[in-house]
Amino acid sequence: MKILVINGPNINLLGLREPDIYGIKSYASLLGFIQDVAAQHDVEVECMQSNHEGAIVDAIQAAYGRFDGIVINPAAYTHTSIAILDALKAVGIPAVEVHLSNIHERETFRRISYVAQACDKTFAGMGFEGYALAIRYLVGQEE
Ligand code: DQA
Repeated sequence: MKILVINGPNINLLGLREPDIYGIKSYASLLGFIQDVAAQHDVEVECMQSNHEGAIVDAIQAAYGRFDGIVINPAAYTHTSIAILDALKAVGIPAVEVHLSNIHERETFRRISYVAQACDKTFAGMGFEGYALAIRYLVGQEE
């Protein structure tokens, strides 16, 4: 099984950005965590991060026929991007949404997720563990 993990804007600044909300661990350490989880489940994982909406749309389109699942933290685009929603719907690859923080307990503008409409499941507020749960969900070991 091949899973594409997509992280949106500012996730590359993990550790630096608002550590009280997103934690002190870096993006590099998130990548290591994801690869460890993938190895435990015999899954091949490719990770990409972009600060650009169109690049994320391009990555989703390019995933068609190449990946069996998508784990996506669209970051701020969660709350604004119909283009990312449409791309996920277009390719029809099973997708799981992840947020490090609990978007439902923060500012009201974070409570809306367009992307959720194209995802089978959302894990929010669990930090790095959300990515592990998403990968396990896609391999069928997490309800
Ligand atoms: C986030 C939550 C978003 O509201 C925010 O814009 C982010 C990160 C999270 O992982 O908690 O950049 O997706």
